[in-house]
Amino acid sequence: MRRYLQFIVLLAIISFSQCFQNIDSNFSSSKKRLHFDEKGEFKVIQFADLHFGETDLKDLLSVSLMNYLIEKYHPNFAALSGDMVSGYAWDNTTTFYQRNWKKYTSPFGLHNLSYSIILGNHDDQANLNRTQIMDLDMTNPHSHSNKSVPGLPDGSNYYLIIYENATSNVPKAVLWFLDTHDHECEDNTNSWGCISRIQVEWFENEITKLNKQYENLLHIAFYHIPIPEYVTLYNNYKVYGTRGESVGCPSINTGFFKAMKENNVRAGFCGHDHNNDYGGFIEGVELVYGRKTGFGSYGPQEDKMRGARFLHLTLQGNSTPTLYHEILQSDGTRKQNGEATYRYDKDEEGCGVTLGLQQPLDTYPKLKKRVEL
Ligand SMILES: *[C@@H]1O[C@H](CO)[C@@H](O)[C@H](O)[C@H]1NC(C)=O
Ligand SMILES: *[C@@H]1O[C@H](CO)[C@@H](O)[C@H](O)[C@H]1NC(C)=O
Ligand SMILES: *[C@@H]1O[C@H](CO)[C@@H](O)[C@H](O)[C@H]1NC(C)=O
Ligand SMILES: *[C@@H]1O[C@H](CO)[C@@H](O)[C@H](O)[C@H]1NC(C)=O
Ligand SMILES: *[C@@H]1O[C@H](CO)[C@@H](O)[C@H](O)[C@H]1NC(C)=O
Ligand SMILES: *[C@@H]1O[C@H](CO)[C@@H](O)[C@H](O)[C@H]1NC(C)=O
Repeated sequence: MRRYLQFIVLLAIISFSQCFQNIDSNFSSSKKRLHFDEKGEFKVIQFADLHFGETDLKDLLSVSLMNYLIEKYHPNFAALSGDMVSGYAWDNTTTFYQRNWKKYTSPFGLHNLSYSIILGNHDDQANLNRTQIMDLDMTNPHSHSNKSVPGLPDGSNYYLIIYENATSNVPKAVLWFLDTHDHECEDNTNSWGCISRIQVEWFENEITKLNKQYENLLHIAFYHIPIPEYVTLYNNYKVYGTRGESVGCPSINTGFFKAMKENNVRAGFCGHDHNNDYGGFIEGVELVYGRKTGFGSYGPQEDKMRGARFLHLTLQGNSTPTLYHEILQSDGTRKQNGEATYRYDKDEEGCGVTLGLQQPLDTYPKLKKRVEL
């Protein structure tokens, strides 16, 4: 803990000079094409739940941590998985989101790093609505964010193609970004937000087209609020990592997991529950939590460091690229996921069980002993 504090103070001092610098100036205004690098790698850092806008000190520390991890690990891309801003901390000014957006995107100007965002449940609680936030973000030359196509709910639903190399036009991987909204799911306001059925349909149409047109695509999905299968996973399958709180998932299952499974999505990554960083496989699809990044709001668990999830996508000749991921911690160390095991405790509250809305869980496998982490 002392080491951790020393680290924070050091970082704060180092970073005062570079923090919030907006040196975006004139990097190419046309969007960079995303592609695997010369080593055949494409590394994505997932910044989860940054929660800017609570205090200047917390924002400074969050920017420092982002800069530190980017400088140390050289990602090719940053995926911001929602709740970049604590909208509930709104000071009633009409520039609140814009100011905080400048802060949380400053590392990408500083490091000339491509990134994109999806919206969480707190981003639109201040002075900008979902459409306005996406419009704002798309003005950043490093942003690859996009808005939902007409017909879909407002917000952040889009995909990005990662090409084979700097010159090839062959897509090898696709990053999907799905908006999970706030507190409503299919007209049910007694639920956490979800990827609505109309979004699932859009996703199925688009991914089917891509899979028909191109072979061996690696598909990865990002969404802020976990889907109900995160509870199923914890209670019934082998998991790695920590569950420090109940899963804040929607009480209605809109079929996104089924769509992922049927269309060869390798993994999905969420944020939202700051004390959870577990993951595991259900029927070939890996469901994963990020690691809480920001200094605003609560979490991660007291014995955990802030950090980020780090995804290595690697080309394998003509076959589907592989995915490996781990956690980057705020002291600069990397934490591997380790062996997945059945857990003795259960998530009995997730997905609105307290509201009496949850669908029955599958039966659990018999467990012999508690697994200590
Ligand atoms: C960026 O480009 C714009 C328009 O081309 C120009 O007005 C501005 O001075 C440039 N900024 C910098 C920092 O070079
Ligand atoms: C913002 O305005 C609301 C409604 O007038 C008020 O209740 C709240 O205290 C104000 N917040 C701040 C931080 O001034
Ligand atoms: C930013 O990165 C792109 C490639 O990703 C490169 O073309 C460009 O020259 C870089 N700009 C600077 C100022 O380094
Ligand atoms: C978002 O705000 C803009 C500007 O006030 C408004 O035109 C638009 O209708 C709003 N969108 C939604 C979905 O409320
Ligand atoms: C944004 O998405 C639309 C389709 O919804 C697509 O036509 C457009 O090319 C995308 N823009 C970028 C910059 O990816
Ligand atoms: C990119 O891939 C194509 C097709 O495999 C290959 O012909 C080309 O030499 C590669 N270019 C670079 C820069 O690696």
